[in-house]
Amino acid sequence: MRGETFFGSLREFTRDRLAFVHKAARIGPVVSFKLGQLLFHLISTPEDVKRVLVDNAANYSKETRGQDLLRVVLRDGLFTSDGELWKRQRRLIQPAFHKDRIASFAPVMIDATRELVDRWAPLAAAGTELDVGEEMMRLTLTIVGRTLLGVDLADSASEVGQALTYVLRDLSARTTSVLDYYLGTEIPTPKNVRMKRALAVLDRIVGGAIAERRKNPGERTDLLSILMRVRDDESGQGMPDSLLRDEVLTMVLAGHETTANALTWTFYLLSRHPEVERRVVQELATVLAGRAPTFEDVARLPYLRAVIDESMRLYPPVWMLSRAAIQDDVLSGYTIKAGSFVFPCPYVIHRQPNLWKNPEGFDPERFLNPDPERPRFAYFPFSGGSRQCIGNTFALLEAALILGGILPKYRLDLVAGHAVEPEPLMTLRPKNGMPMRLHRR
Ligand code: HEM
Repeated sequence: MRGETFFGSLREFTRDRLAFVHKAARIGPVVSFKLGQLLFHLISTPEDVKRVLVDNAANYSKETRGQDLLRVVLRDGLFTSDGELWKRQRRLIQPAFHKDRIASFAPVMIDATRELVDRWAPLAAAGTELDVGEEMMRLTLTIVGRTLLGVDLADSASEVGQALTYVLRDLSARTTSVLDYYLGTEIPTPKNVRMKRALAVLDRIVGGAIAERRKNPGERTDLLSILMRVRDDESGQGMPDSLLRDEVLTMVLAGHETTANALTWTFYLLSRHPEVERRVVQELATVLAGRAPTFEDVARLPYLRAVIDESMRLYPPVWMLSRAAIQDDVLSGYTIKAGSFVFPCPYVIHRQPNLWKNPEGFDPERFLNPDPERPRFAYFPFSGGSRQCIGNTFALLEAALILGGILPKYRLDLVAGHAVEPEPLMTLRPKNGMPMRLHRR
């Protein structure tokens, strides 16, 4: 049996992807549609997601067409590699993300947040409007740069800052351009030439940082040093420089835009829900009594954590996953042919009325008292199974320290009249930014 077929797909999908997946998911648990010559299946039950990501994960590869673009930049990094290489790299890198290591990054996160809080003071006094999306992007890039390489990547005047911004914008734009998709990245179109130039800058800077570190390893504790020290248990080998480059760029890209979007959506939701905002600010006042949060405080801020979880329910930064079926499989009674693609879609499943009460509402309370009947894959902002996000603990700590540092100092109000619209590119970000005004508390 085949999945329900959804017609008119390519144009409709390109025009409004969120409306498309919402509409498609109402048709049935597995909805098949064609984009060009390729066959895709949107899956929207937690049981099917579990089969794809966990129970039958070996049958679903990350070698999907959507990943081709990312692979141009991230090459053999953890996000885009697969098979034996991925398995070995994940085993090598996992210890760098151990809870104790992540805890040692807390001071960097706290300092960078304090710098932002100070920088905002005159802007708040002057009633200046700022784009919170851009502010969060800069902050999380600063944090990932300092924790990874011990350098500031976020300086927008810097070569690397400009190259990174270019690569991110270009990749996002390409996800919606059918022409770019078919032209690929090799033909020397002006866009491809600019992309190659930006990549050459990133290669030079990351390569330089690696070479410098090989010469002077010192006593550093950033992620790069940890990655350079790891040795494979079986072979005793470290990581070659080309793989280190791929992993470093992967961490920089995977590690900042996602968290920045989660934070931006959280500020937006808080500005629309003053009762939730009051409660989270109250919790911060009680636990912190006016000081900045520390690593230890985070465990004592359950409502703040629920706010973050609920924000990623409504606006999961990675709104859609994709996998390629290696052999035929069956999901919800439908045949998934080898070579076709499946989309487990957090954005759709996180809003399914049969899984969530008041699915469109912003209600952090539901994460304080979770429904014991709720299936594991009703909520999966960090994916699941062996390809689960390696940076989830890092991201949750970072988000809590940033919100805990900012919220007691400032209230952020969405600029009146600005229509907020989620734009599902590589990540789910606000189209036209998130202009907000700061008010000192
Ligand atoms: C709120 C923030 C974040 C979200 C929502 C997020 C989400 C995700 C998701 C959904 C995946 C899996 C994609 C798939 O299954 O196809 C993933 C993978 C990954 N993430 Fe994150 N991420 C976040 C932050 C971070 C951070 C801070 C880092 C690193 C510092 C990071 C590094 C990675 C890497 C390396 C992978 C690939 C893991 C693998 O395949 O083995 N992420 N992330």
